[in-house]
Amino acid sequence: MLYQDLANRLQGLITDEVYRPGTALPGVRRLSQQHQVSVSTAVNACRELERRGLLEARPRSGYFVRPQTAKRRPPRVRTVSKTPKPVTGQERVLQLIQSANNPDVVNLGTAIPDPDFLPVHTIEKAYRKVWREQRRRCVNYEFPPGAPELRTQIARHLASLQCDVSPEQVLVTNSCQESVSIALKQITRPGDVVVLESPIYYGLLQVVESLGLKALEIPTDPEQGISLGALELALDKWSVAACVMVPNFSNPLGVCLSDERKQALLELLYRYKVPLVEDDIYGELPLSGPRPRPIKSWDTKGLVYYCSSSSKTLAAGLRVGWLVPGNNIERAEYLQFINTVCVNTPAQLAMAHILEKSRYERMMRQSRAEHAVSVARMIERVTQLFPDQTRVSRPTGGFVLWLELPGNIDTKQLIEPALAQGVSFAPGSLFSNSGKFSNCLRLNCAVKWDARVERALANLARLVGG
Ligand SMILES: Cc1ncc(COP(=O)(O)O)c(C=O)c1O
Repeated sequence: MLYQDLANRLQGLITDEVYRPGTALPGVRRLSQQHQVSVSTAVNACRELERRGLLEARPRSGYFVRPQTAKRRPPRVRTVSKTPKPVTGQERVLQLIQSANNPDVVNLGTAIPDPDFLPVHTIEKAYRKVWREQRRRCVNYEFPPGAPELRTQIARHLASLQCDVSPEQVLVTNSCQESVSIALKQITRPGDVVVLESPIYYGLLQVVESLGLKALEIPTDPEQGISLGALELALDKWSVAACVMVPNFSNPLGVCLSDERKQALLELLYRYKVPLVEDDIYGELPLSGPRPRPIKSWDTKGLVYYCSSSSKTLAAGLRVGWLVPGNNIERAEYLQFINTVCVNTPAQLAMAHILEKSRYERMMRQSRAEHAVSVARMIERVTQLFPDQTRVSRPTGGFVLWLELPGNIDTKQLIEPALAQGVSFAPGSLFSNSGKFSNCLRLNCAVKWDARVERALANLARLVGG
């Protein structure tokens, strides 16, 4: 929708302080001329930004940028492991994950969007259609590399991201996590060293653990992304088999590498001949501005293994992901086959139908706008409720927030008391193999905001000393 595009553009300008807190935005007529849209589009964009909590309307004076709640400093960059180590201590994750399905607990712990953020109706319609029209196919296996129509749709989507990939190069998987696992199985052998950004999504550490690999974590700046200098030193010192990264809106920091840094990273990896396993699961979800390019779009040597899934955009319950292996798709197909035989057939067909027939881009714009509202609200409430010295990330995409708490608090000790008060969160220590980040925690912002969530967050804030 045009007005959402304009709202996103204006949000970017507010974030960059082109329009500073407390100042007036140009009038809607002026905005319509400047951005070459109709006056009603400009009005709707301003209303959207009011809804996102960024503008306030003042009678007869127009729209003003809301004075922001005192900004919190971003979390600090940590120097983590100096030597590669096998991954341990991840078993606690299961307890956290299980609490996500407990209806008595407000789920701030897992990065799963509330169904209100998902196109549930579109998915239901697609399922009904494929069951009605392709019943015999739905009850059968759809063996690797997966349903041809889905692979075609994924290749078309990738083409829109400047990744020139043919349907024959796409493998359908059960999830992004399976894609990463297959990619690493293709590239590595047990005992090999893998470099990762730090902090990093715990699922990626678990894949590294399950394959018997050693993790070497590279410090990551919450606003710039992975330190390329530290990465170069690591590549120089160790024989590294692969690099695993989430360049677009990493989890938990929500940071997106700039195009220049993405290309510099790729050049560095080319120089050391180290394959990149690129997890782009949040790429569709910028909080403002355009969808960023994947690193795969610059890859001319087939060294990037591109992984993603529908878990954050359509529904985690679909269990459909995809992998574009750098090369040797046959090996990837075989690894998928011996992993799980194949991917759920109705889910593959329904997803193909959604990508082909539904207004996917429009659905994504809608989701982005809703996440922008939910992340802004969570930042505002955390700033009000949590201890003064709490540092808060400023994600530019995705829907999670990363907090660094003051003092010697160990957030994993608070899991049980928090669950007893009906709220879950993800303790910081899960996001690293180093034992660091124990005074951090991650919050899921994609919740349906109501009095229950408000109470849950206040309870959590009290537990951490707010
Ligand atoms: C960065 C990242 N990669 C992968 C996954 C797992 O996604 P999937 O359900 O497709 O395996 C998640 C889920 O939170 C994630 O945050």
